Amino acid sequence: MHQVVLPVIGTVAAWRAEARRLAAGGVPPEAVSWRVGQAEADLFATQPPATGTPRQINLSRVAIKGLESALCHRDPERFARAYALVLRLSQGSLRWGDRADPAMRKVMLQAKAVHRDIHKMHAFVRFREVESTDPRRAFAAWFEPEHPIVEAATPFFANRFGDMDWVIATPAVTARFIAGQLSFSETESTQRPPADDTEDLWRTYYASIFNPARLMVKAMQSEMPKKYWHNLPEADLIPNLIRTAEARAAKMEAARPTDPPARRAAVARAMAMPEKTEAAPGTMEDLRRQAQGCTRCPLHGSATQIVFGEGPHDADLMIVGEQPGDREDLTGRPFVGPAGEVFDTEARAAGLEREQIYITNAVKHFKFSVRGKRRIHQRPNADEVQSCRWWLTRERALVRPKLIIAMGATACQTLTGSGAGLLRRRGTVEAAEDGMPVFITVHPSYILRLPDPAQQTAERVAFRDDLETAGHILQTLCQSAAQTNA
Ligand code: URA
Repeated sequence: MHQVVLPVIGTVAAWRAEARRLAAGGVPPEAVSWRVGQAEADLFATQPPATGTPRQINLSRVAIKGLESALCHRDPERFARAYALVLRLSQGSLRWGDRADPAMRKVMLQAKAVHRDIHKMHAFVRFREVESTDPRRAFAAWFEPEHPIVEAATPFFANRFGDMDWVIATPAVTARFIAGQLSFSETESTQRPPADDTEDLWRTYYASIFNPARLMVKAMQSEMPKKYWHNLPEADLIPNLIRTAEARAAKMEAARPTDPPARRAAVARAMAMPEKTEAAPGTMEDLRRQAQGCTRCPLHGSATQIVFGEGPHDADLMIVGEQPGDREDLTGRPFVGPAGEVFDTEARAAGLEREQIYITNAVKHFKFSVRGKRRIHQRPNADEVQSCRWWLTRERALVRPKLIIAMGATACQTLTGSGAGLLRRRGTVEAAEDGMPVFITVHPSYILRLPDPAQQTAERVAFRDDLETAGHILQTLCQSAAQTNA
């Protein structure tokens, strides 16, 4: 038997090298035993018994990505299964993705479990600030993943928190990001980082987004499983919030304002009068029609046409951008130019379907200056944003999305009252003035404006991650709404 002992750090890369070496030596899967740990000196030196046909491993990129994910599963059999699979794939006796094959099905399920664990790590790592003598601020976090995913999951944090030093310790492996360099080592101590003020921030944030009227313990636990609670500062609050939810929901219900019948009748009369529809549009079509004649700010004078929102009028997700660009102004549709292409591509990759999203802008007319034959985008000023908020508020009231994604500072400003510190706030959920949850991310044009292609690529990945996180939050909100309505 050929014994392969893979290192704890760099396991996947070492497996890949060993698998190539064994395949080239014609070693059949049943002649290899794999494990992770400390190698005794002579084990790596073992020569494979060459009883099979020597093979070159040649796999598609999708297959490599899928296998590499499955190799981050905690199942000790994963290495042997993957080796047998790559031999069959290289021989052509198996096709990647063929779910009728039990081994392939297992690998794909394990890859999925790993993706989920990585997502949980991205969502549930809570950093605490630690003392630093360096001008860069330093943070530390303790996390217990289900699978050995630290090397696969932490480049996300390097992208997101590139201007800080940080350490994420897990029971087996510790990731360190110091002065811009990401490195890994085996964990020596299981001592958790000290508590700090950030803990209170998480608690306040969690208590403020917790809606007792929408409590669904099962859905909440599936999105935030109990096993993560002991490392989440806000988790202390959960049992009490659950216990008191019913009473708090009843109190909210009792405190809800009720329309006096006379006023309700007056509103109904006013809505029925055609000349009053300007003030209270009943449908999106009314609103869109009214908007065609908008003169609320001077921008209507130079733009070709108003670019109103589009998408299902009952969408769960609303996207708010800044203002139409040149292409949007000419076609009359939002996000159909270069920024729209970035959005469409990354949203699709993040599992969001544009057809199911209501997509609109904070400002509905294109603002530009003319340079030669070109119309150059100009940022709308505070008055223009404020004037156009009138339309956005009505779009929100008609669509009533469960989540809004604010892309960029202008959207963030109009929805939350502040557009400052966007990069610090991205990836978080804040509340609009009526309590509607607003997820904050960057505008796709910000990515397009970056001069360095490598930086653009990294930012596209971070943008996609944001959209994916928003998708998960939306899922939880939808589940919770479904249970409340059930
Ligand atoms: N940028 C935006 O904010 N909106 C669009 O519709 C196009 C570009």
